[in-house]
Amino acid sequence: MSMTGFDLSFRHLCSPYTTLRFEFPTQTRRKIQYGCTCTAGRPALCSTSASSTAVSDSNENHVGTSYGRRTMISMITILFPLHRSMQHSCANAADDLLLLQEEIRKVLTKGKAAGVLRLVFHDAGTYEIDENSGGMNGSISYELDRPENKGLKKSLKILLEAKKTVDETITVSMSDVIAVAGAEAVSLCGGPKIPVQLGRLDSMVPDPEGKLPEETLDAIGLKQSFKRKGFSTQELVALSGAHTLGSKGFGSPIIFDNSYYKVLLEKPWLSSGGMTSMVGLPSDRALIEDDECLRWISKYADDQDLFFEDFKNAYIKLVNSGAKWKRNS
Ligand code: HEM
Repeated sequence: MSMTGFDLSFRHLCSPYTTLRFEFPTQTRRKIQYGCTCTAGRPALCSTSASSTAVSDSNENHVGTSYGRRTMISMITILFPLHRSMQHSCANAADDLLLLQEEIRKVLTKGKAAGVLRLVFHDAGTYEIDENSGGMNGSISYELDRPENKGLKKSLKILLEAKKTVDETITVSMSDVIAVAGAEAVSLCGGPKIPVQLGRLDSMVPDPEGKLPEETLDAIGLKQSFKRKGFSTQELVALSGAHTLGSKGFGSPIIFDNSYYKVLLEKPWLSSGGMTSMVGLPSDRALIEDDECLRWISKYADDQDLFFEDFKNAYIKLVNSGAKWKRNS
């Protein structure tokens, strides 16, 4: 057993994961790993660690532990400034996010929250794994005349205002603005706080047409559509809870809570006459007729904290769907 190398890893909160590998003379097989992992949205905290790697290798020609130590010290000397610069870029990313959130809060009201959240789904929901197309890429800007996007122009317009102000200081993509704005809309209306990572690149062309699920789909069709986008039935049910906002009759149009599920369980559309027959979209009503969906609907109706947690995670997945990322953002 002898020392054959060491790992030097920097852990901070920027994405994507970056690895610098240093190869030493063949027989020593020493390596240095320089890594960068991200836990989206949390405050920037960075740490550095260095560790030597000892492996047993009967064929190796030893170069001596003192050489190993000297090498380790010189590599740390090289990498430490690099780590400092990454810490700096972490702090910048956190500052960029704060600036963007601040400008979004200036233009967002509870009344506009539903439209802004819907915009997120209409940008990201075009993602198709097999075709590797669509996703969270800001292409909604080119798709506003499509029938399924009716009414979304005004939501995008207010976000463009925020983007314009932010762009005077930093450059931010439309997809980042929409992703962060949807999270702000949810929390403004009393929903969970959702950490959103920055660094998406925008598409310069519209996504293929016909990729959003139609409201006339039954539960099987909805499940298949969401599966093609990488979402489970549980995530379909959690994300559909977004319909608690807006005017489809699931509680207050400006409060994000679990009333969507409570109302679904009551099936108010079955009662004759009055406004109750107007509640929900066909796709909402379809979910409750499916046993697997019904299990999740009942859980979320009973436990709002569980709904908030699952919505948060599904939302993060949604805004990362098919996203292309800037390097070292
Ligand atoms: C499950 C498949 C889905 C279908 C078929 C669907 C379809 C629709 C339709 C037809 C509307 C009504 C638009 C109008 O009032 O003219 C609507 C509203 C809305 N959708 Fe969806 N949607 C789905 C999933 C989602 C998801 C995943 C989200 C977000 C995570 C979302 C967010 C919203 C919001 C917030 C509204 C209310 C908008 C407003 O009142 O301004 N939807 N949706």
